[in-house]
Amino acid sequence: MNEIISPARTLRGVLRVPSDRSITVRALLIAALAEGISRIHAPLNSDDTEAALNCVRALGVDVAPLHDAGALPSLQARGLGLRGLRAPSAPLFCNASGTTLRLMAGMLAGQPFDSVLDGNAQLRRRPMRRVTEPLRQMGARIEDTDGCAPLRIHAATQPLHGITYALPIASAQVKSALLLAGLYADAPVVVHEPAPTRDHTERLLRAAGVALDVRAEDTTPTIVLTPPRVPLRALDVRVPADFSSAAFFIVAACLVPGARLRLADVGLNPTRTGLLDALRTMGAIVRIENLREEGGEPVGDLEVQHAELRGITVGGALVPRMIDEFPIFAVAATQAHGTTIVRNAEELRVKESNRLEGFVGELRKLGARIETTADGFIVEGPTPLRGAVVNTLDDHRVAMALAVAALIAQGDTTLVGADCVRKTYPTFFHDLAHVVVR
Ligand code: S3P
Repeated sequence: MNEIISPARTLRGVLRVPSDRSITVRALLIAALAEGISRIHAPLNSDDTEAALNCVRALGVDVAPLHDAGALPSLQARGLGLRGLRAPSAPLFCNASGTTLRLMAGMLAGQPFDSVLDGNAQLRRRPMRRVTEPLRQMGARIEDTDGCAPLRIHAATQPLHGITYALPIASAQVKSALLLAGLYADAPVVVHEPAPTRDHTERLLRAAGVALDVRAEDTTPTIVLTPPRVPLRALDVRVPADFSSAAFFIVAACLVPGARLRLADVGLNPTRTGLLDALRTMGAIVRIENLREEGGEPVGDLEVQHAELRGITVGGALVPRMIDEFPIFAVAATQAHGTTIVRNAEELRVKESNRLEGFVGELRKLGARIETTADGFIVEGPTPLRGAVVNTLDDHRVAMALAVAALIAQGDTTLVGADCVRKTYPTFFHDLAHVVVR
């Protein structure tokens, strides 16, 4: 599917962007392992979360819509307990969801049955040794396919071992896989992170009653999970709007002259909001209102308006806190005065697409002055953009970032392969049309 985006005169309105993908996937997995009925309010409904839902159903978990009041739909999941999952009768298909596949690898490593985790062609290209290696150190019998999916997991015949593991890369997916495997270990699992990454798994496991200790939260965190001796408690969580989806509208409002947008109910977990810090340093005007806590996560409403931006340098511990926001950050940088430099972001090469070489090439087609480096990119701005035919590379965040760039370009832009937004934000183009004033 192609999408044609015309320039915007300005942006106005209020949006509640769809719910958080990372939290929805984790809530489904942890609800499956808990005992009793978990309630997940306002879950995301997208390709990634459907993959997670299908996987937990294939393990015998009953998940159904919950007909309570509430403006947004809810799900109820009848958890089977740590030892109650059923052997799947076919490979578990994670579609394009790396989060589902990597977290399920941890969850399945200690089960008394065989399983296979697989994904579509895109997911099959993504690196999996980062999870299989530490899981093997825990005693899991798990085979990858040349470092990638499919993963074959053999029935565990004894408890997994506790492990102390220093993550070589800052990855919430790897950390989460090890913590979920730790539920089946005979001793604590200790994970050292090189920098803080999203901590939704820790928050949800704690809500389920698991003993989890985090030290030195702001520098290089160490997480200690003690294997539980009692069943996990069922969850009752409300999923906030996804900061990573709000990010496209935050940047759009910064860039389009005269824009003013309100984004409601946005998850503001500090391990996710690095983009806000970066944009504010660049001069963005973003106000947080009604800051509150919901389901163990900080949530607020954002008011964003147009502002002149200045180039900055981003690197170090800020990178994992905005790891999914670099495509849209690059778009912001094209309009900032001066040079913007991104360092320490080599992980961008192994996302849904190569977000260094691939995405940068597409942004250049719109006239951006952007060069890649070994571990990031350099942008010169401000640069007037011009409409062109660009390819989404089948990457949802590339598609949405290019759509925002198109709002400030001269002339129309054709996005080739725009339907990939279904991965996390199926209603993106509808929401965009809702706030654009032409
Ligand atoms: C995610 C973690 C990040 C992020 C991805 C979602 C998660 O990946 O890029 O979109 O839900 O844990 P890594 O763990 O590979 O950094």
